[in-house]
Amino acid sequence: MRLERSDCPFTNHPDFITAQVATFLLAGFETSFAVLALTLYELAKQADIQQRLRREINEPVHQNTSLTYDQLQQLCYLHQVVCEGLRTYSSAAFINRGCIPSQIP
Ligand code: HEM
Repeated sequence: MRLERSDCPFTNHPDFITAQVATFLLAGFETSFAVLALTLYELAKQADIQQRLRREINEPVHQNTSLTYDQLQQLCYLHQVVCEGLRTYSSAAFINRGCIPSQIP
């Protein structure tokens, strides 16, 4: 990978790539893990919702033995369950970033 040199003191720092990798791993692991684990916990507590979701997922699986990407897009109830998990157990409840006025074109 080729990085352009810039005047930014962060990107020129020798630890820049290491820091990016650490951010990527941290940001990607804990967020997905927490939402998945807590959504599965909710499904374990609510058998009726779990049953309905299992039926929706099993239908195309039984027809084709595997689930294609296109079929995955059609799983409306799965989408709703994941959205509800993200809403209920939000991994990032707030964002503390702000715009820097001088960088807005
Ligand atoms: C449920 C899953 C996830 C949630 C709720 C989530 C949420 C967020 C939020 C709110 C931000 C801050 C965005 C901003 O400041 O504008 C962020 C940034 C970031 N996320 Fe995620 N994320 C998730 C999954 C992942 C995954 C799977 C990866 C990587 C494999 C990832 C990598 C990153 C990185 C690298 C940043 C920093 C981006 C930057 O510096 O501009 N995230 N995420």
